[in-house]
Amino acid sequence: KETNDQLIIDAGQKHFGATICKSCGMIYTASNPEDEMQHVQYHHRFLEGIKYTGWKKERVVAEFWDGKIVLVLPRDPAYALRKVEDVQELVDHELGFQQVVPKCPNKTKTFLFISDEKKVAGCLIAEPIKQAFRLLSESSGPESSSSKECPRAWQCSNVPEPAVCGISRIWVFRLQRRKRIARRLVDTVRNCFMFGCFLSTNEIAFSDPTPDGKLFATKYCNT
Ligand code: ACO
Ligand code: ZN
Repeated sequence: KETNDQLIIDAGQKHFGATICKSCGMIYTASNPEDEMQHVQYHHRFLEGIKYTGWKKERVVAEFWDGKIVLVLPRDPAYALRKVEDVQELVDHELGFQQVVPKCPNKTKTFLFISDEKKVAGCLIAEPIKQAFRLLSESSGPESSSSKECPRAWQCSNVPEPAVCGISRIWVFRLQRRKRIARRLVDTVRNCFMFGCFLSTNEIAFSDPTPDGKLFATKYCNT
């Protein structure tokens, strides 16, 4: 079933042939045995990690024409928690995050976007917070040298503002980005995080955003 169409990315160099795997999204050089080996390993681990066989008791919190969102809570059966762990491991690996132990593991809510192909196409991990620091736009703060060296060191306000829900991870499978999956995950969190109310964008906060995360969050919070 899996196709491996080759897509040649022209990066302006001669003899540069990069292939993107249509199943796992890894970009590698097919002519390089070491690269190919790494791909085979990653491919297997990734597809195993995002495989979703369906659970007897699943908490579907949103349904769409192209998939659904399932919520996993800390006291759910071991098979559900194991899937969340596997997905988080893939996400953390991609983001280059060290395994961070959540501050309140018994209060973490994980939202999985399950595609029609029975794969986890998106993941959002949320936890309760009391305050957050507003991200300042690059132009408003004084230029600091550290923000150039480390692209994650955005300027933050030092005035805490009340918040309710912290988004510690948001991730969408590489080959399914820009299909509003992240947007739908955040909409669903705002609707489900606290019973009976729809959180405003001021009440949610993205922790330690990556450049992608920042672009998404900025767009999401302004629209
Ligand atoms: N560049 C510019 N704008 C973007 C980008 C981007 N990379 N991603 C999203 N947006 C904006 C767009 O305006 C988009 O609307 P449009 O497609 O109509 O123009 C809008 O945000 C909504 O985007 P979605 O389609 O809902 O976002 P997507 O499903 O592609 O997921 C995400 C965005 C989660 C950031 C994805 O790119 C991803 O998984 N990246 C890698 C992992 C990562 O960096 N996650 C953030 C970590 S930070 C944290 O977890 C707190
Ligand atoms: Zn692959």
